[in-house]
Amino acid sequence: MPIPLARDVDTILAGLEARRPAVAAHCRRVAAYSVQLANHYGLPAEMLDTLRFGGLLHDIGKLMVPAHILSKPGRLTEQEWKALQAHPEHGFEMADQLGFAPGILDIILYHHERNDGSGYPDGLDVNVIPWTVRIVSVMDAFDALTSPRTYREALSVDAARSLLAREAADRYCPWVVSGLMSLPRTILDAVAHGELDRYRPDARPSEAVMQTATTPWTAAYLVEPGQITAW
Ligand SMILES: [Fe+2]
Repeated sequence: MPIPLARDVDTILAGLEARRPAVAAHCRRVAAYSVQLANHYGLPAEMLDTLRFGGLLHDIGKLMVPAHILSKPGRLTEQEWKALQAHPEHGFEMADQLGFAPGILDIILYHHERNDGSGYPDGLDVNVIPWTVRIVSVMDAFDALTSPRTYREALSVDAARSLLAREAADRYCPWVVSGLMSLPRTILDAVAHGELDRYRPDARPSEAVMQTATTPWTAAYLVEPGQITAW
């Protein structure tokens, strides 16, 4: 099977854009936030690529979820909730058939897993949730909180960050949340305004963002997954 290329991701995103534009915009921001956090921590280039493509594709399974469920303003019925919760598995099947790498498939399948085992689809233990998945999970939640919903206004960056920090101990990876807390505001604002959503090597962040480049924390990704439970 041929290895998927960046242009394949473009094609998939174009389909998502046409049928689920809000989801496509969310995916682009989550990819950009994830890559910025990885840059901030000085993570290796291979991880950045996995985060880029995994972030861009993490919600493609929502193509299989009826649009009226995605945009429903009120509470979902149990059946609707089940249909929504199936999106990681739908996405995994689609991306697997297209031949995407295992690291990207992990992000698609597991981005709703949680540190305390309360996530889905598998209720995974924290120790087996890959680091890349933990990064996308936090950025996914951050983008959801800072985006308007039919039933509430968007939270401010500060409100979203402190809400995630309060929840970090049980549901989200504290290491990723602390990275989010220390990411310069200019970077988060640039992503929110669509300035950093490109993944092509020739795409560069705006001058203002380049000026806020942060010191990489190269040791962070070497922490063994088991250690996270002690945080
Ligand atoms: Fe999702």
